[in-house]
Amino acid sequence: FGTDYAGVVDQAGDGVTEFAAGDRVFGGALSRAVADYVVIDVAGTIAAGGDAHHTPDGVDDRTAATLAIAGCTAAAALAVVKPGPGDTLLIGGAGGGVGVFTVQFARLAGARVIGTGAATSADALRALGAEPVAYGDGLAGRLRALAPGGVTAAIDLYGTDTAQAARELSVPDERITTIAAQVDGITPANGANAAPGAIEEIARLVATGQLRVPIAATFPVGQIRAAVELQAGRHVHGKVVIDL
Ligand SMILES: NC(=O)c1ccc[n+]([C@@H]2O[C@H](COP(=O)([O-])OP(=O)(O)OC[C@H]3O[C@@H](n4cnc5c(N)ncnc54)[C@H](OP(=O)(O)O)[C@@H]3O)[C@@H](O)[C@H]2O)c1
Repeated sequence: FGTDYAGVVDQAGDGVTEFAAGDRVFGGALSRAVADYVVIDVAGTIAAGGDAHHTPDGVDDRTAATLAIAGCTAAAALAVVKPGPGDTLLIGGAGGGVGVFTVQFARLAGARVIGTGAATSADALRALGAEPVAYGDGLAGRLRALAPGGVTAAIDLYGTDTAQAARELSVPDERITTIAAQVDGITPANGANAAPGAIEEIARLVATGQLRVPIAATFPVGQIRAAVELQAGRHVHGKVVIDL
C-alpha cells in the first residue's frame, strides 16, 4: 500500500537527462508514494530509490498510479506459469488489484481463464474475460464440472487454497505460483522479478486500449484511513487510488 505513484516532474537532479520538469511520470517508491513530493533515483528500483517511467499519452494519472506494483506482480506470476493458447488457467482472487491485470494478461496470451470470487463478483470477473467460480470448500469439484478437460495452470493471488485445489486437479507444481503465501514445492512470484521493460509494456497496453484497470474507489489524502480500511477488507475489485 502506498508504493505506486503518478504525477509531474517538479525538478530533475544534476546529470539527469531522461526526465525534465513538467514531464508526466509514474512508477513505484516503496511505502513513500502517498506524498506531495517523491524523490526518485532514476537508477533505482521500486524497492530501493524508486523508479520512474514516462506516462504515455492516453493514460490518465489515476490509472498510471495503479500500474507499477500490481502490473509487475501479475507479469511476474505469468512468467512463472507461462499460460498460452490451449491452457485453462485458474486464478485465485482474480478480481483484486493484482487479479485484474493477471486475468487480462492471460487472456491476451490466449489462455482460457477461470477466476475465483464471491458470487457478487461474477459479473466483474466476466467483464475482465474470466469465467467465475466461487472460492471456498468444494472448489476442486466445481472446477471439475466447469473444466472437464482439466485445469492446466494456476496462479494463487490470495493465499494457498487455489494452489491446493490446483494440486488436487493434478496441475504440476511447476505450473502453479503464489504471490501472497508460500507453499512448499511451488515457486512464488515477485513483481521485483518482472522482465525488464514489463512496466512500459503494461502502460502501452493501457494506452492502446488493450488493458483496462478498474478503479474501485478514489479517496482524498485526508481520508487515507478509509482507503486503507477498504483495501484491508480484501474484497476490493481493482485498485484504490489516493488523490493529492
Ligand atoms: N495489490 C498489489 O499491487 C499487490 C502486489 C503484490 C502483492 N500483493 C499481495 O497479494 C495479495 C493480493 O492483493 P490484491 O490487492 O490483488 O487483492 P486483495 O485486496 O488482497 O484481495 C482482493 C480479492 O480477493 C478476493 N478474495 C476475498 N476472499 C477470498 C478467498 N477466501 N479466496 C480467494 N479470493 C478471495 C476478493 O474477491 P471477492 O471480492 O469476490 O470476495 C478480491 O477480488 C495480497 O496479499 C497483497 O498483499 C498485492
